Amino acid sequence: MSSPAEEPAEKGDFTVTPWEVEGEIDYNRLVEKFGTQPITPAILSKMKKLTGEVHPMLKLGYFFSHRDFDWVLDKKEKGEDFYLYTGRGPSGMVHMGHVMPWIFTKYLQDRFGSKLLFQITDDEKFLYGQDRTREETRRYTYENILDIIAIGFDPKKTRIIVDTKHIQHLYPLATEIAKRITFSTAKAVFGFTNSTNIGMIGFPPVQAAPCFLPSVIEGRNVPVLIPAAIDQDPYWRMTRDVADRMGYYKPAQIHSKFLPGLGMMGKMSSSKPETAIFTTDEPEVVEKKTSSSFTGGQPTVALQRQLGGNPTGCPVFWYLRYFFDTEKQSDERLLKCRSGNLLCGECKGDLAKGAVPFVTQFKKRREKARDVVAKFMYDEQPIEP
Ligand code: TRP
Repeated sequence: MSSPAEEPAEKGDFTVTPWEVEGEIDYNRLVEKFGTQPITPAILSKMKKLTGEVHPMLKLGYFFSHRDFDWVLDKKEKGEDFYLYTGRGPSGMVHMGHVMPWIFTKYLQDRFGSKLLFQITDDEKFLYGQDRTREETRRYTYENILDIIAIGFDPKKTRIIVDTKHIQHLYPLATEIAKRITFSTAKAVFGFTNSTNIGMIGFPPVQAAPCFLPSVIEGRNVPVLIPAAIDQDPYWRMTRDVADRMGYYKPAQIHSKFLPGLGMMGKMSSSKPETAIFTTDEPEVVEKKTSSSFTGGQPTVALQRQLGGNPTGCPVFWYLRYFFDTEKQSDERLLKCRSGNLLCGECKGDLAKGAVPFVTQFKKRREKARDVVAKFMYDEQPIEP
């Protein structure tokens, strides 16, 4: 049960900013509001042409919006390689909602042979809010790096940039970017106010810098594709604005939705740990979280049989769809649920059957990652031009 304070705002009311995601998100409206492009059938067929398949996360609409993704694919088709760039703010431990776009990023790296820059914004997470200490962000930086490596990125083609550790590689670009952005633009894009600390106000160019770093590394203009959740879009809007003036390509993006929390619908949140499955959770904990999850079911079995459930308002359904069901299984689950022929217990059981082994295996890879952290760090071995 959620307390009244956690009740999502009225239907139709939602907030998506890089630091706050609240309410029931209407993704179509977001595409309009942010001025991004929807993923079209034409893009799916292009992917099919280039890779021989369409990844389920694209096909099922987990990645639903983009800017210039088609342009990057066209370039690639003509033989021009692109870099991937994504990142993580180390505000806590990693849960399944975080790893989804990373799994997709690895898929893109494997299919297109792309080099990847992975930024850890420990500065951002320290600066945001009142109560985070440097020690906390330092610890989460290390813990999160283990998760990133556990995804299986190619060590030869992947470099992790920790902002406070590798700032010398970002700073020249960040100042070039910062010089071209006024406070009035930053306020409009990020909603900064007079009471925002000036560290936060100065931070966006640091997150923008890796968009152009590949061009500096390679000594020529390099297209960059950013797979990320849609809440990061304001950064790229700002970056795209200055790209031309700096003589670089505008960074392209592919935007994901959020994986709903198990507590209720909305972004899976690390601040409500009982509603997220963490990569470090013990099997019993995963079992407990799945079995006590909020669902789209009716209050009683009789009502469920009579009225059917609401799968698209059910986090268990979405977890299964994105992670563990095949498309066919998921479509069948949807129909069976709606017609009252499926009870929530069965879906929760299926989720536990998927999530327990997933987390168990992930944890093993995470432990192995401890030995190779140095290999992935940006300044240990810069990616060869
Ligand atoms: N600001 C992001 C966060 O809070 C971290 C991040 C930095 C990022 N660079 C990125 C995310 C690029 C996606 C793509 O999580």
